[in-house]
Amino acid sequence: MTVFNRHRHEFPTLASGIHLLSHSLGPVPSTARESMLAYCDAWENHTSEDAWATSWWELSRRVGDRIARVLGGSAGSVQIEPNASIALATVASCFDFKASRRNKVVTTALDFPSMEYIWDAQRQIGARIEIVNAKDGIAVPLEQILDAIDDETCLVALSHTSYRSSSRIDAAAVVERAHAKGALVLLDVYQSAGVLQLQAADWQVDFLIGGTIKWLCGGPACGYLYVRPDLQRDLRPRLTGWVAHDAPFAFAPPPMHYAKSVRRFAQGTPSIPALYSALPGLQLTETVGLEQIAAESVRRTEWMIEFALARGWQVNTPREPHKRGGSVMIGVADGPAMVERLAERKVYVDSRPSAGLRISPHFFNTDEEVEEAMNILAELLEK
Ligand SMILES: Cc1ncc(COP(=O)(O)O)c(C=O)c1O
Repeated sequence: MTVFNRHRHEFPTLASGIHLLSHSLGPVPSTARESMLAYCDAWENHTSEDAWATSWWELSRRVGDRIARVLGGSAGSVQIEPNASIALATVASCFDFKASRRNKVVTTALDFPSMEYIWDAQRQIGARIEIVNAKDGIAVPLEQILDAIDDETCLVALSHTSYRSSSRIDAAAVVERAHAKGALVLLDVYQSAGVLQLQAADWQVDFLIGGTIKWLCGGPACGYLYVRPDLQRDLRPRLTGWVAHDAPFAFAPPPMHYAKSVRRFAQGTPSIPALYSALPGLQLTETVGLEQIAAESVRRTEWMIEFALARGWQVNTPREPHKRGGSVMIGVADGPAMVERLAERKVYVDSRPSAGLRISPHFFNTDEEVEEAMNILAELLEK
């Protein structure tokens, strides 16, 4: 049997305790320091606008292509965005909700608040938003999502894996139904990419959004937007800027001529430090391999759920492996207080209202750490 290489020595943060926070803030790889220094060197050495042409412009495309591999998409399918919220707002700005009766957006009650705020704001410009509920607060029944998609639906936009419960939807089934009804599909894969194997191309999903700071061990402000390659040229986002122009350095007056590539979904100057900060985590993810990472995640979350259920704890995450992501949520009486007590014992998790503790093992955690963390939680809960 080959030993799973956890690359622990490449994460200085792990020396400070048991890091189970990959759903929120991944630990920084030590090679990120070199990468940020490489950024400083390049910055120092650029004496004119040549910075764009000689390295920075290209870097945005290169990081996009690496993220595309994580998502199961082809090169040229991912545009780097400032964050997932802007990625979503850019997609929303492609729709003219007042132009036809096809103006319904289907979302769910388990999506991230930014997403809810953005859809709510689209009501002002004619969008009808249908929010499919999760009665148990854990999972939105697939049938109810499929039933909500009708001939007036223009977009189905929901989390692939929920930040609140780690419940995962059946992407292929949603895309199949939406396309049959003439609607597009956007999945927020922030809580999936880097811990699950995703298949953007096979699913034929239209859009994916997310970022690199959680499961992909990158720095902040490196969001991304995947757009199905054969759909890209049909879309003209109103949330735009000079970087999205076909000839950005021509500084031409309007009308806008969108780039004939995924760059048409950009806005202004990209965050270059964010690109450098994301590279080491992407490299490590590729080195370890998503198939192995996903298998480890299932094995450990399974063990954690069994441990919790055996003690009669409230598990706010689906039991079936194919219906959940990489986190396990455990209901506790006072989440923030328990997070503090665990931190005193050097176990780092977080909590969310009505979800409870969010606990996320990733490839760099040892089995012993996961067991120790759960045993400490048992001690604190049961004494
Ligand atoms: C599922 C999900 N979507 C979106 C976001 C927010 O992304 P951003 O801050 O990049 O807009 C988060 C952050 O926690 C998240 O968990």
